[in-house]
Amino acid sequence: MDLIQLIRQRAIGTNKRIVLPEAEEERTLRAADDIINENIAHLILIGNENTIKANAKHWDLKHIAKATIIDPIENPRKQYFADKLFEIRKNKGLTIDQALKLVENPLYLAVLLIKTGEADGEVAGANNATGDVLRPAFQIVKTKPGISSVSGAFIMVLKDKNFGQNGVLVFADCAVNPDPTAKELAEIAVASANTAKAIAGIEPRVAMLSFSTKGSATHEKVDKIVEATALAKEMNPELLIDGELQADAAIIEAIGRKKAPGSPIAGIANVLVFPSLESGNIAYKLVQRLAGAEAIGPVLQGLAAPINDLSRGCSVEDIINLVAITVNQANGE
Ligand code: ACO
Repeated sequence: MDLIQLIRQRAIGTNKRIVLPEAEEERTLRAADDIINENIAHLILIGNENTIKANAKHWDLKHIAKATIIDPIENPRKQYFADKLFEIRKNKGLTIDQALKLVENPLYLAVLLIKTGEADGEVAGANNATGDVLRPAFQIVKTKPGISSVSGAFIMVLKDKNFGQNGVLVFADCAVNPDPTAKELAEIAVASANTAKAIAGIEPRVAMLSFSTKGSATHEKVDKIVEATALAKEMNPELLIDGELQADAAIIEAIGRKKAPGSPIAGIANVLVFPSLESGNIAYKLVQRLAGAEAIGPVLQGLAAPINDLSRGCSVEDIINLVAITVNQANGE
């Protein structure tokens, strides 16, 4: 069984409640139908009930009737959710009138459903930009205790099984922090190691990437990676981690041995932490397109509840897979 099948299998029958706030959108509704049919999750669909039902009929989707549908505009509990939002954000200057308007936004309502305990997780982004999906999550559910920065990892499944662990590597941060500090990079390393273990099922060996290996170049950006590596070791002394390493020294055994002798992970890394969002985002897209790798994610790490963001170019299968990952996260895996 391949990794994504395993992730889906683990979700089946666990009855987690996942919100899809873009339920009027075709790929989302088609994915919802399969998710319900395969018993991957119980779904809460946000959108106009008549539109969702008419679309389901038009596209011949047979299982949508089993989902809970919440209309964000004709919502009898609008005041209740607005009051909750006001309580959470009043110290940031939010007024009750602004809160009443915001709860009509499906992306805010979805996160409020999680905050009030009515849902276990959310998947969105088929129709909305990453920032618009993340902002309500950051503002309302916030980060896990001890974590200051949310990040986004991709599980890369390569055709060439010689890399990583049997072809599986975790790349981060590919989705959130444009210019992370050393502390944020350390948190990204620790969180990505957890994702590697919990979602990808691999024993993490973390490389902190740079354009330099073990002092081959001198620059403040190199110093930042060295500092981040030390901080990550402090945060988790058990972690198998090393840096700074160039990408070839991280993943090719002969080069790792030569450039970083004695390193516990050089040449055999399976978790790659990139120094910036530019490098992480570009790298995962190049590996996906040029090497034909499967890119599963982004899996958001560090949020107090499982909320995941799709690419707007996503397919129906991508949505089903990310819902299954979200269920796995909600199950604490
Ligand atoms: N982790 C946790 N909380 C955060 C983070 C973070 N990484 N970044 C911002 N926040 C919090 C802030 O503390 C703030 O909370 P507060 O209002 O309670 O004080 C709130 O989020 C809003 O913060 P802003 O600074 O106003 O952040 P902004 O909304 O401008 O931007 C965002 C945050 C949207 C995540 C921004 O960093 C961003 O756009 N990142 C890039 C996203 C992207 O485009 N990724 C590439 C595409 S994804 C892909 O290809 C798969």
